[in-house]
Amino acid sequence: MSIQHIDHITYVAAAADENNFIERWGLLGFKEYVRVHTPRYPAAHIALASGDDPNFPWAMMTGLSVSDDPKSPINLFVQRYGAGPQHVAYNIGPGEDMEELHRKLVARGWRFMTEVLTYRDSTGAGIRQMFVAPQVPYGPFSELVQRIHGPSGQPFDGFDTTNIDNLYEAYSDYSAHLENRKSTPLWAGTATPPGNRMLTLE
Ligand SMILES: [Fe+2]
Repeated sequence: MSIQHIDHITYVAAAADENNFIERWGLLGFKEYVRVHTPRYPAAHIALASGDDPNFPWAMMTGLSVSDDPKSPINLFVQRYGAGPQHVAYNIGPGEDMEELHRKLVARGWRFMTEVLTYRDSTGAGIRQMFVAPQVPYGPFSELVQRIHGPSGQPFDGFDTTNIDNLYEAYSDYSAHLENRKSTPLWAGTATPPGNRMLTLE
C-alpha cells in the first residue's frame, strides 16, 4: 500500500483561544468546514479546510478541539504540554482492508489505543479510524483514517460523534494506564490496560 496524503492535523488549545485560533488560520485560507460536539467527553471538534482537490473534499484540513471541562483530556494535554498539535491523521485508500491492516501492524509491534472504529451513514458512505497509542499520558498520537465512498463516488467528508467519544474514552483509559505504570515499580509487573484487549504493552 502507499499513503497518498495527510487527511488532517488536529490541534488542541484552551477554550478561550478558539476564536483567535480560527482567525489566525483564516489568514492561511482555512475556513470552518464542519463542527462536531461530543456529549460524553464534552468538547467542540472544529474542522477548518483550505484549497481544492479534484479527488478529495479538501486540499488541507486543520482541526481544533477545545473543551470547557477542565478535566477533559484536551485540557489535560494543554496543561501538561501547552497548546499545539494533538494528532496527525494519515489517509488510507478506500481499497484497503482496515481490520487486516490493524492486525498486521499490531503483529509488527505497532501499539494502538483503539480497534477500528467504524461509522456509516444511511447512504453507505462513512469513516473508519484507528488510533495509535500515545507515548506519554494525554500526549500526542497518530490516526489512520479511511473515508468510505458514498453512492456518488465521493469520499465521506464528515466525522462521527460516537467515534470521537470512543476515541476519547480509549485515550483517557490508556493515559491513566501510562500514569499508573510510571508509579509502579517494574518488578511488581505491569497492569493490564483497561478497555481494549488489542493493546499490547511492554
Ligand atoms: Fe482526527
